[in-house]
Amino acid sequence: MRKKIIAGNWKMNCTPAQAEALCRKLLPLCEGAQADVVFCVPSVDIPAVTKVLAGSSIAVGAQNMYFEEKGAFTGEISADMLLELGVKYVIFGHSERREYFGETDEMVNRKVKKALSVGLLPIVCCGETLAQREAGIAVEWIRMQVKLALQGICAQDAEKITIAYEPIWAIGTGKTATAQQAQEICGAIRQVLSEIYDQEAAQTMRIQYGGSVNGKNAAELFAMPDIDGGLVGGASLKEEFAVIAHSE
Ligand code: PGA
Repeated sequence: MRKKIIAGNWKMNCTPAQAEALCRKLLPLCEGAQADVVFCVPSVDIPAVTKVLAGSSIAVGAQNMYFEEKGAFTGEISADMLLELGVKYVIFGHSERREYFGETDEMVNRKVKKALSVGLLPIVCCGETLAQREAGIAVEWIRMQVKLALQGICAQDAEKITIAYEPIWAIGTGKTATAQQAQEICGAIRQVLSEIYDQEAAQTMRIQYGGSVNGKNAAELFAMPDIDGGLVGGASLKEEFAVIAHSE
């Protein structure tokens, strides 16, 4: 039985002081959730957030990381830096990073490998545009993204990875995929995982849905057989996130 994972993606919101205040508000509301709960916060907020969450069941995640060990990569943050701050999860390949910051499938793959090598747990995003969905190529597109992200990663390591299916047309738009639409793609992702690895790995790996998840639609989405929780943007900054964290 897979344990659900519900992660908030705070994106570029909250100064460290605001992050600390939000954490203090959300922590008591989220504790006791059956799922693994993660706050993926801006890098500079990590120390403030880890301090508040210390000793709690809520984990801290980052939203990005570079694949090189260290050196002349101005503006980047390394895996060791995140690890030393107590980070557990890192999001890779979010559609905003792909679109605005040129993150490619190859970079995602290298970042995932680096994260795994130090014991960080990757959350790997994939998702189609509305045009791709309408052209009937959503499943093919996502199969390709998943294969490229996982290239060269063995089953034992892959089991530490969470895949987040986030249709781009549903992110921040208030247009959630229906539970059936989300299940169809998450089922296809589990299928491709079983082709790359085997049934056992595919059944172990967790697959989230993301895209306008809120307190009202979370329970129905998370009840689908191949949806093991959610990656939550807008609603992760509100008390509503606690409702989502308890939805299963
Ligand atoms: P949203 O964002 O919940 O605001 O749609 C989801 C995400 O981008 O991870």
